Amino acid sequence: MSRVRTQVGIIGAGPAGLLLSHLLHLEGIDSVVLEARSRVYVERRVRAGVVEQPTADLLREVGLADRMDREGLPHHGFSLRFDREDHRIPITELTGSTITVYGQQEIVKDLIAARLAAGGDIRFEVSGVAVHDVETDRPRITFDGGELECDVVAGCDGFHGVSRGAIPDTVLRTFEQVYPFAWLGLLAKAEPSHEELIYTSHERGFALHSMRSPEVTRLYLQVEPDERIEDWSDDRIWDELHLRLETDDGFELQEGPVIEKGITPMRGFVAEPMRHGRLFLAGDAAHIVPPTGAKGMNLAIADVLVLSRALSALLNRGETDLVESYSDTCLRRVWRAQGFSNHMTTMLHRTPGAEDYHHRLQLSQLRYTATSSAAATSLAENYVGLPF
Ligand code: APR
Ligand code: PHB
Repeated sequence: MSRVRTQVGIIGAGPAGLLLSHLLHLEGIDSVVLEARSRVYVERRVRAGVVEQPTADLLREVGLADRMDREGLPHHGFSLRFDREDHRIPITELTGSTITVYGQQEIVKDLIAARLAAGGDIRFEVSGVAVHDVETDRPRITFDGGELECDVVAGCDGFHGVSRGAIPDTVLRTFEQVYPFAWLGLLAKAEPSHEELIYTSHERGFALHSMRSPEVTRLYLQVEPDERIEDWSDDRIWDELHLRLETDDGFELQEGPVIEKGITPMRGFVAEPMRHGRLFLAGDAAHIVPPTGAKGMNLAIADVLVLSRALSALLNRGETDLVESYSDTCLRRVWRAQGFSNHMTTMLHRTPGAEDYHHRLQLSQLRYTATSSAAATSLAENYVGLPF
């Protein structure tokens, strides 16, 4: 069995774990990243693709944005579509900020490349990970064939990871909202049908038009939560997308060969506190938002920025203030993002069995957002991301 000593043991090589390892390296702190899946798997996993302005600025500041700045697509607005009409929310005009459309797995590829180039230690396909002794100042991570002895453990292992379980039930509180629908996501080799994202509220359910490049379109459809992807042929998906995205001014949805498709459940979830002793949770390990607000990865990145500062204070200067405030600082942003993501989700989706009263309310909210500059500015401000 190999026994290794490192300052920060990081579980999970998603955006949270990988960026944390990079930020710590810049602070002169060494870490080891343990990942259950293979490198190919994590680099191919298709996820969301909206990078908020503060996230993009941070990636630039820490030298990780060269490819994003070449290949990412800057956006200055998006559409809210309802009643067969398009209403543009001019986010840059309203807030001064832009968002960048760049796939999460591209960020993961860039992070892995940067860590490996700097001699970083990332171990893929590690099984049997377990966390121990987090209430002491020598926590350990054991795994099949080895052990890491650390100063601190960072649980960046996503919603289904093991680290959250290392916080005792008497300490951990969880808050959850499961939505009665799911998203069917589609990646197609087709030119985007519109230069911006389109969030559509339709009586048959929500639909979203997004993109990855001038040749690749990303599309989503609201479906039933227990829907099986095998029941959705490509033809059925395109028919449904046409129906929901259609407008009276002749919008045309471009079709193309389907590269990837899958169904994701929708939930809001928060675990409190995000620190117990020397265990720190970050990203999806601590919270999930429904994807309608495009906040998941941005929240994970905000967490690890706060965490890297706290760990630098602790490990480089012996100061504990930022460690003590880590959970509260992150949770403030997390709950704002929960609120915004819930608002976008309930405004745009059809809830099965809801009274028509609710549909009238939704429509009224959409009209208000599309016509009031105060409402549009509030939406845009939340969408582009609050400053770090
Ligand atoms: N041992 C080691 N690694 C694990 C374990 C385990 N027991 N369990 C999970 N992992 C790994 C997963 O394989 C995954 O690669 O932890 C990683 C967690 O990465 P993400 O799920 O990408 O989570 P995070 O880094 O917090 O990023 C959040 O991902 O799902 C999106 O919407 C979310 O965009 C947000 C972002
Ligand atoms: C995406 O492009 O994958 C995407 C865009 C906006 C969202 C969610 C996902 O709100």
